[in-house]
Amino acid sequence: MRSPPTASQLANLREAAQTVAINAYAPYSHFRVGAALLLSAPPDTIVTGCNVENASFRLTTCAEQAAVARAVAQHGSGIRILAVAIANLNDSASQPCGACRQTLLEFSLPETLVLYPGARSQPEQQLLSDLLPASFALTRS
Ligand code: THU
Repeated sequence: MRSPPTASQLANLREAAQTVAINAYAPYSHFRVGAALLLSAPPDTIVTGCNVENASFRLTTCAEQAAVARAVAQHGSGIRILAVAIANLNDSASQPCGACRQTLLEFSLPETLVLYPGARSQPEQQLLSDLLPASFALTRS
């Protein structure tokens, strides 16, 4: 049984998400987002990503999607996400969008935690499985 992330690991993860948000490219929405993944495989690894917008708006990459793509590129398809922290530089609530919930799910565990700023930027945390119930999945081979 995997041990749950410690409070200090989660604090570091939030910090990493906030820091990478500084690099976001968001000239259209001005909403700069950072995401930090804590992987259980490879153990205790943090991988970050930020949103990258495009003049053709639908080509925008969300921070969570950027982090997942980077984690797979760096560590391979065996990655597993123990927790993900999301932050923004606008002092706003920012739960992961529906597409990002599905992207995170692909490499998730039953206990995957999502940490995000809620109303009045209060830190919230929820299981990914609660944020995306009755999700779509194909059997991995
Ligand atoms: N965004 C993310 O990076 N993650 C989400 O889960 C929701 C939205 C970005 C996309 C866009 O660049 C900006 O936030 C405003 O929607």
